[in-house]
Amino acid sequence: MPVERIRNFSIIAHVDHGKSTLADRLLELTGAISKNTGQHQVLDSLQVERERGITVKAQTASIYYKYKDELYLLNLIDTPGHVDFSNEVSRSLAACDGVILLVDACHGVQAQTVANYHLAKQRNLTVVPVLNKIDIKHANPDKVCHDMQLLFGIDPDQVLKVSAKLGTGVTQVLERVIEVIPAPRVERNSAFRALIFDSWFDKYRGALNLIYVLNGKLEQGQDIQSLATKKAYPVKSISVLRPFECGVASLSAGQVGLIACNMRNSKESIIGDTIHLKNQSVSAAGSYRPQQPLVFAGVFPVDQSKHVALRSAIEKMVLNDSAVTVKVDSSPALGQGWRLGFLGLLHMEVFCQRLEQEHGAEPIITAPSVTYRLVLGNPKMIRQQGTDTMDISNAALFPDPSSIREYYEPLVMGTIITPTEYVGQIIGLCVERRGLQQSSVNIDEARILMKYVLPLSEIILDFHDRLKSISSGYASFSYEDHGYHLTQLVRLDIHLNGKPVDELCRIVHSSKATGVARQMVHKLKDLIPKQMVQIAIQACVGSKVLARETIKAYRKDVTAKLYGGDVTRRMKLLKQQAEGKKKMRLFANIRVPHETFINVLKR
Ligand code: GTP
Repeated sequence: MPVERIRNFSIIAHVDHGKSTLADRLLELTGAISKNTGQHQVLDSLQVERERGITVKAQTASIYYKYKDELYLLNLIDTPGHVDFSNEVSRSLAACDGVILLVDACHGVQAQTVANYHLAKQRNLTVVPVLNKIDIKHANPDKVCHDMQLLFGIDPDQVLKVSAKLGTGVTQVLERVIEVIPAPRVERNSAFRALIFDSWFDKYRGALNLIYVLNGKLEQGQDIQSLATKKAYPVKSISVLRPFECGVASLSAGQVGLIACNMRNSKESIIGDTIHLKNQSVSAAGSYRPQQPLVFAGVFPVDQSKHVALRSAIEKMVLNDSAVTVKVDSSPALGQGWRLGFLGLLHMEVFCQRLEQEHGAEPIITAPSVTYRLVLGNPKMIRQQGTDTMDISNAALFPDPSSIREYYEPLVMGTIITPTEYVGQIIGLCVERRGLQQSSVNIDEARILMKYVLPLSEIILDFHDRLKSISSGYASFSYEDHGYHLTQLVRLDIHLNGKPVDELCRIVHSSKATGVARQMVHKLKDLIPKQMVQIAIQACVGSKVLARETIKAYRKDVTAKLYGGDVTRRMKLLKQQAEGKKKMRLFANIRVPHETFINVLKR
């Protein structure tokens, strides 16, 4: 296929604006999948995506379309819409020359539309604006076009109007992509060079790399080399995704394809790395850099016999999710484990769900935290550390307050778009979360775009849920890193029958310590099942107890409702109970269900 007849593009949008549905229609229209198979969101193939109804991984499909008697190769990438998966959008855009910016004609431009539009503009990509869901009665395409003009300077006449659900106007989208998105700016008559922009693990073939070829040609059997690690590998197989894997003999500049070459893990297969033919010198192919994680949590095996299996599962998952960072960690109570970094709480939950569903691992996850920065005042500690600053995300390692001179916490710049009637309540929420308003602009007579600087720790857990519930689902939110600022912090410890539980301790803003303490002990009272001993739950800062609750003793006999009779039935129930107990952590003879550590943090 000549380069001038290739188009590489992504579909970007806010959550639920219809990207995956539009991708389905494009695949059907080009014959990549057949109509009426009853399959929806074909590119959302992960179990977690189907269960949650959201895209978490960008997916690629190479499709063919005949336009004005010429056959075109279109490499389409469907991206996630949620802010926690924006790393997937950034990495996808590295392999594109244009984007379809999809906007829901009922809900209009939302916070993630704005964020994704700017990501595309930063990379100088051509934007094809498309309004979706025009079949819905209360859709207001004119108003949404007006907002797009105001916010992005997009000419309303250039906006295509479609219904991805019904297929209306989808052909025009495909044709517009061919007309306005430029062919890849690549060179075929030079040494092979390609960008790795995705990878995943295959049981039989090891790491598979999705590559975008920028120069030359790659053939099966050739030896390639990584620019980052300098290691060389023989190319075992090459395929393209249509959207299902389909073997090919070679890949030429401008094409996107999958290669298997005996790479084993994320240390060898690096997203953003350049590959080239062995012993040739080339420059780096892309300027993609993964986003920095914002939320950290400890991940530990339920018992140390599962350590090796969990490590292997984490390695495979990280291969497929380059935004996650991994550091070895250990805890006196939980043994050897890891401290993982995520882009947000949803990202963390999805990662853990995938660990369980795709790799059968059921780890213990400790309370998520952001990274605080401490300036030390204790000369001995400064000497030991070799510096007077200390970054800390594990509350259990929080030093004695007498050795700390200053505390700093990370901030984000948040963008909120909301209908005007919810502004009062949203400002209230932001103030409660220690936010400072930076600006407020009317998008039109009915909607406002507000910018707030907020402490990251105040938004990672439930800010988004609260925002959605007070605005009946209409307000949207996105955020980006905004540096650190001076603050006042304390370490809040939770004791069960007098014993501190490392997994539950947290670093909190000093003004919030009492409120958080009350809320946590109250929550724990509901979350920890009654047991044979009475349980005292205390929340303390140093030796001061800020809140306390008690769980009365009770013995749950699962066989109590069986009146004598069948012994096998009895054994079965006791076995089930024993299995349930395995999923719990034991502290001072108190069993704590392992999901407690996260659920206790949700307000
Ligand atoms: P994320 O990837 O999670 O961000 O979602 P998405 O943008 O891929 O949205 P998706 O395609 O999953 O669609 C979200 C919902 O909108 C689904 O229930 C679709 O059936 C519905 N939907 C998509 N397009 C249309 C449309 O043109 N008309 C109507 N009425 N509903 C649509």
